[in-house]
Amino acid sequence: MLIKLNMAQTLDGHTYREESGWATTSSEDRRRMDRLRSWAQVVLVSRRSVEKDNPNLFIRNQPDSLHHPTPVVILSDGLRKIAGNLRIFNSPHPPGEFWVQSNVPETIDALIQSPSEKARRWKILQFKSIVDIVDYYRNKNISKILLEGGPTLNHFFLEEKLINEVYTTIIPSLWSGFTSDRIFSGKSFINNVALKLVSSERRGHELFLRYKVRYIP
Ligand SMILES: NC(=O)c1ccc[n+]([C@@H]2O[C@H](COP(=O)([O-])OP(=O)(O)OC[C@H]3O[C@@H](n4cnc5c(N)ncnc54)[C@H](OP(=O)(O)O)[C@@H]3O)[C@@H](O)[C@H]2O)c1
Repeated sequence: MLIKLNMAQTLDGHTYREESGWATTSSEDRRRMDRLRSWAQVVLVSRRSVEKDNPNLFIRNQPDSLHHPTPVVILSDGLRKIAGNLRIFNSPHPPGEFWVQSNVPETIDALIQSPSEKARRWKILQFKSIVDIVDYYRNKNISKILLEGGPTLNHFFLEEKLINEVYTTIIPSLWSGFTSDRIFSGKSFINNVALKLVSSERRGHELFLRYKVRYIP
């Protein structure tokens, strides 16, 4: 099982703007994101990121591919409904899976507002710990998982020593301010991680960094 994280950040470490989400990606960044999605069997995101950014999670430069990763949305609380008009509920995304920690709804109608026929094919699964989610996919022989944030969800994965590689794009922007999180954000400090730089590539004014993660016992 290999779990790769992909996140973009400004030079001063911002990963989103509270008022506008993330809208600063370049065509090169999207091409690389597509390459990671072509590799992945499953792409994981948090409910908040999906609601805020309304992303497409398929391989965008190959919409006719038969190998789009399964979209998976992780949420802590199933009481609040998710909008039914999000892009992830439309083709060419395959039907995905929700992982809910508490107040797990019994039906899709209880979780999605006015779900389409396609959205009705999503599954709802329950987790207690992030490890349950990874174990489930491991038991299904799924070995390639792409995590696409946001920072709070990334923290839970790192805390459980589940992230094997970090891909990060440094975009040529400085936002200053106080408003946003880094690529990981959580209550505890993590000090058992050693990173090995595998590649660093410059394209235009962007930097594409890839690190392998080792957890120090
Ligand atoms: N720069 C990038 O590459 C990039 C990539 C992705 C996202 N983002 C940005 O990241 C922002 C969101 O980041 P964030 O740190 O605020 O939130 P987040 O990482 O998206 O995490 C919070 C979300 O995770 C869910 N969650 C699942 N399990 C949880 C648990 N055990 N405990 C707590 N929450 C859990 C929460 O569900 P509930 O809603 O049920 O509480 C909530 O939706 C968005 O604005 C987006 O634009 C940036």
